[in-house]
Amino acid sequence: MLLREMTENDLPQVLELQRELAFQDWNEKQFLSEIRASYAYCVVCEDEAKLLGYAIFHLLGPDSELLSIATRASEQRKGIGSQLLKAGLDKLTENGDQCFLEVRDGNAKARAFYEKHGFKLYSVRKKYYSDGEDAALYKFCR
Ligand SMILES: CC(C)(COP(=O)(O)OP(=O)(O)OC[C@H]1O[C@@H](n2cnc3c(N)ncnc32)[C@H](O)[C@@H]1OP(=O)(O)O)[C@@H](O)C(=O)NCCC(=O)NCCS
Repeated sequence: MLLREMTENDLPQVLELQRELAFQDWNEKQFLSEIRASYAYCVVCEDEAKLLGYAIFHLLGPDSELLSIATRASEQRKGIGSQLLKAGLDKLTENGDQCFLEVRDGNAKARAFYEKHGFKLYSVRKKYYSDGEDAALYKFCR
């Protein structure tokens, strides 16, 4: 398994993974603008050229943010998400010491994942999502 920065060539597999999990609906243009943004850190995990997961961070000094993280359904619970998350959190020492994220209130799996990695519930944004679900805002401090 290899961790490396995301490139434009990864986008077909990134979009496929996103469709498979149906957890967000970014289009190719949105992923492209992340890859090209100087403040974004876009990382993938792959195995023999098959993309297993990805994460996108904004490294913005004290207010860094995890925008998106996902592991292919068949590969979950094998430590891939943890490796992707750690790769971004390791960058915080260079760019600041806090990382924020938003997650759907009902996404128990992701919330357990973030809590295991030291994220603490910071606040709740009521009816944040278009379907009326609340967002839980988490904060990580190094
Ligand atoms: C959240 C997600 C990225 C975790 O990826 P992963 O590769 O499965 O994560 P890991 O294998 O590194 O899991 C690490 C820990 O997270 C927690 N965790 C992960 N999946 C869990 C689950 N289904 N139930 C409870 N805890 C879970 C556990 O503490 C786990 O450690 P353990 O396996 O030793 O118990 C993955 O579930 C995913 O892609 N979900 C769909 C997309 C999504 O919701 N992204 C987040 C949107 S904000």
